[in-house]
Amino acid sequence: MRIGILTGGGDCPGLNAVIRAVTKSLLRQCGAEVIGIEDGFAGLMGEAPRIRPLDWANVSGILMRGGTILGTSNRANPLRSEADTERTLAHARALGLQALVAIGGDGTMAIAHGLAQRGLPVVGVPKTIDNDIVGCERSFGFDTAVAIATEAIERLQTTAESHSRVMIVETMGRYAGWIALEAGIAGAADVILLPEIDYDIEAVAAVCRERAQRQRYTLICIGEGAKPVGGQQTVQAWLHDSPDPVRLGGVAHALRAALQPWLTCEVRATVLGHVQRGGSPTPFDRVLATQFGNEAALLVMRGDFNRMVTLHEGRLGSMALADVVHGTRTVPLDHPLLRTARQIGVSLGEP
Ligand code: F6P
Repeated sequence: MRIGILTGGGDCPGLNAVIRAVTKSLLRQCGAEVIGIEDGFAGLMGEAPRIRPLDWANVSGILMRGGTILGTSNRANPLRSEADTERTLAHARALGLQALVAIGGDGTMAIAHGLAQRGLPVVGVPKTIDNDIVGCERSFGFDTAVAIATEAIERLQTTAESHSRVMIVETMGRYAGWIALEAGIAGAADVILLPEIDYDIEAVAAVCRERAQRQRYTLICIGEGAKPVGGQQTVQAWLHDSPDPVRLGGVAHALRAALQPWLTCEVRATVLGHVQRGGSPTPFDRVLATQFGNEAALLVMRGDFNRMVTLHEGRLGSMALADVVHGTRTVPLDHPLLRTARQIGVSLGEP
């Protein structure tokens, strides 16, 4: 049995832990030959495939390493044209791949689904710091991103207090506010603004003014996809050749500019950006990624293809790729953490 593995989309702490677990599990349990495909689908759709063998030795010692040893691409899309699809499938056939394990986010799962429909047996492993993939209540990389964002908020607290400032910190997360919500609560933010709840600038200003009388400073944690009531999301760039062309970013600066006229103290903004995606995964993410990798290997060995590994109510499972590709798992408006935040006096920017 010859199995390929690739990592697609943006990188994420824990990818190497998955590569290691898939490889070790397949080697140990069925003696499969495992090959890594370089730079996501780019390594399978060029003139010649770019591959490297994965064996016990070269996946040892990578569990705690950030990024992906295989490289990744968030632009390569074999479904862009019939010629690209054909070449990708031809390379997979020529390599003798009995299955492809695709580790990635919703874009990668959509491509995997498209290739599966054209006859390539695929198993998907959900990856994203955003925690927004349908069917997966906790994706690896999220815990690490929350830990990094939490530490940043804590660090901003001491400087905010010293200068009596309003400090805004922007987290990633695209259209889902999970990182902002959990890091905001863990970092003791006073205001948490999410893509799921449009914020009222007057309400945010009122919190800052009220806090200026007592604590002197205010910490605001905002998810990059948040927007004011009646306003638009802040788009940093359009990458027209990417399966997901919108790059959000910069909402903290937009909020700073909108908030400053309402206040006498200084308002400053910090955009955390890719810091949240870099470096070593937390122990939680290492464990989760290892479980996901092993589960993917089990799906391959059972011949249970065209499915993605899932986590539901704490239990590993799988779902059809066809069911994954539609939708984003955003924060439900009745989520208990929103209630907790409100009840302990955290503003969600509501009037
Ligand atoms: O999906 C993960 C993510 O980090 C998002 O939170 C963010 O909006 C996006 O990727 C950034 O992508 P890129 O690395 O292409 O700028």
